Amino acid sequence: MIRHDFHSDTQTRPGRAMLASVLDAPLGDEQLGEDPTTRRLEERVAELLGKEAAVFLPSGTMCNEIAIAVHCRPGDAVICARRSHVVTAEGGGPAALAGVMVHPLDDPRGILDPGSIRAAIAPQGRYAPRSRLLCVEQTVNREGGVVWPVAALDAAAGAARGAGLATHMDGARLMNAVVRSGVPAARMAAGYDSVWLDFTKGLGAPIGAVLAGSRDFVAEAWRLKQRWGGAMRQSGVAAAMCLYALDNNVERLAEDHALAGRIAAAIADLPGVARILPVETNIVIFETAEGWPDAPALLAALARDGIRISAFGPRLLRAVTHLDVGPRAAEALVAALARHLGPRARA
Ligand SMILES: Cc1ncc(COP(=O)(O)O)c(C=O)c1O
Repeated sequence: MIRHDFHSDTQTRPGRAMLASVLDAPLGDEQLGEDPTTRRLEERVAELLGKEAAVFLPSGTMCNEIAIAVHCRPGDAVICARRSHVVTAEGGGPAALAGVMVHPLDDPRGILDPGSIRAAIAPQGRYAPRSRLLCVEQTVNREGGVVWPVAALDAAAGAARGAGLATHMDGARLMNAVVRSGVPAARMAAGYDSVWLDFTKGLGAPIGAVLAGSRDFVAEAWRLKQRWGGAMRQSGVAAAMCLYALDNNVERLAEDHALAGRIAAAIADLPGVARILPVETNIVIFETAEGWPDAPALLAALARDGIRISAFGPRLLRAVTHLDVGPRAAEALVAALARHLGPRARA
C-alpha cells in the first residue's frame, strides 16, 4: 500500500474543511451562466490574473487546448519548450483539436530566450506554417519546477508580440511561482493574452481550472467549452472548493517548497544519484547513476516501502511535494532513497 505519494501534487485529497465549504455554496446551472459560486470564482481569478474575464473548466489540459484553438487556425504553428505539457502530455491535442503544428525549442530549463523565439518565427509567405502563438509554462514542470523570472516572461512575450503572435501562459503551478518570487500573478501574466490557474495541483482541490483573458477571448473559449462538452451544471460544488483553496492553500505552498529543498539537499550526495536539478519550488528531479537502480527498479523498490514517485526517463525520476506529504513523509522518502542509492546498495 502506498502511504507517501510523491507522484505529483495532483495526489491531494480534499480535507473536511474544503468539503464542508461546498455545503452552503449557492448553486445553479453553469451552462446558463447561473451558478453563482462558479461566477464568483471566475471573477476572482480574472482579477487575480489581471484579465477582463475568465471561464471555469474541468482541467488544465482543457484550458491549454481551448486557448490554442482560440488563438490559432489549422496549419498554424505554436512556439513552446520541447518538454512542455502541451507537447508531451496532452495526447497530441494541439494537432488533433486545433490542427496546429508545434515548433519546440530547446532553451535551457524551459526558459525561452527572445532571440530563439525570434529565430523560430517563420518568415511570412506561403511555404512555412504561420507562427501564431507563443506558449510558456510557469513553473516549468519537467525542468524541476523552474520559475520564469518576470523579466524573462516580459522579454519572451515582447519578442512574440513584436512579430504579431498571440501569447499564452500555462499556469498549472503559477501560484508556486508567485509564492516563491513574491511577484503578483497579474504582473507575471501582464504580457500574456491568455493564462490559467490549476486548482488540482498544489492548491489541493479535486477538480477545476480557470482560464482567463479578454472578454472576446473568453467568449470564444466558451464556444469551445460548449462544443467539447466542458459546460457543466451545478459546478459550484467544485468551484466552492477552488475558492476554499484560494483562501487557504496559497501561502502554505512555501512549506512545499522548503520540504522539496530539504529532500534534494538530503539526497544530492548519495553515490547512486548522478545528477539533481536545482529545486526552486515543489519538484525534485534526479537521475540515478549507471550501476545503480534504474527508474523502474527504483519505483518498484520504493513501492515495497509504501512510497510512490514517478519516472520521467530510463534513469530520470521526479518527486513532488504537496499538502498531503509532510515532513514525516519526506523523512521516509529520504531514508528509502538512502537505502536504495546509498553506499551499500549498488545494483
Ligand atoms: C505544466 C502542466 N500543464 C498542464 C497540466 C494539465 O493539468 P490537468 O491535469 O489539470 O489537465 C499539467 C498537469 O500535470 C501540468 O503539469
